[in-house]
Amino acid sequence: MIAIIGGSGLSQLSNLDITRREVVRTPYGEPSGALQFGHLCDQQTVFIARHGYGHTIPPHVVNYRANIWALKQAGAQAIISVASVGGISDHLGPGVILVPDQIIDYTWGRKSTFFDGGDSPVVHVDFTDPYDAGLRQRILVAAQQADEEVIDGGTYAATQGPRLESAAEVARLERDGAHVVGMTGMPEAVLARELEIPYAAILVVANHAAGRGNSTHGIHMESIETTLKQAMNRVHKLLQHFCSTCA
Ligand code: HPA
Repeated sequence: MIAIIGGSGLSQLSNLDITRREVVRTPYGEPSGALQFGHLCDQQTVFIARHGYGHTIPPHVVNYRANIWALKQAGAQAIISVASVGGISDHLGPGVILVPDQIIDYTWGRKSTFFDGGDSPVVHVDFTDPYDAGLRQRILVAAQQADEEVIDGGTYAATQGPRLESAAEVARLERDGAHVVGMTGMPEAVLARELEIPYAAILVVANHAAGRGNSTHGIHMESIETTLKQAMNRVHKLLQHFCSTCA
């Protein structure tokens, strides 16, 4: 079963024919909302809205551990994360979709591991390649089949939020080697790795990051919403192709 975590702009998967909703309790507390089970192109799929179905849970408050744990318990064999980002590199303007291959974590104070000590032995998971190579490849193939232009690779800077960055912070992220910036990529990716669930992301550029392109003098939320609405239709199509190829 494929799991999809929907971010800003994707609180509902409109082409998922929902057969069941399940409220799951986990040892780590409550997930962002009920899991929605259904079929996407005949493929069993489970969906959860990262920010809740009313989009009320900010990035630093999301219970990432509960979400990933609940998906594992539900039988997820792979997780596709959908998230919106700001584009740092010039060519990553609003509406661009990419499948990142690296991540840098700038978040702090989030519960970022299942291996918290106690009686269990210390565990250090390998995170050299934070996104699952096979799953990334399958998404890229689905994009080709869907005739959707998707960029292969890129480094995601995960910031704490919920505020957007200053222009100087974005300049620093670029010097660090980041191409896009978002607020939810971590600890989600590492928690999936800890539970050995292949994880990859589809990122939608909602805006130029602060100080870049038309965000030189600020970032306007209205244009972000319009961009996301249009781009998420393309993500729906891409996910549909992905699921039709994995039967
Ligand atoms: N910064 C951080 N997160 C984001 C942005 C941004 O510019 N756009 C969408 N998510």
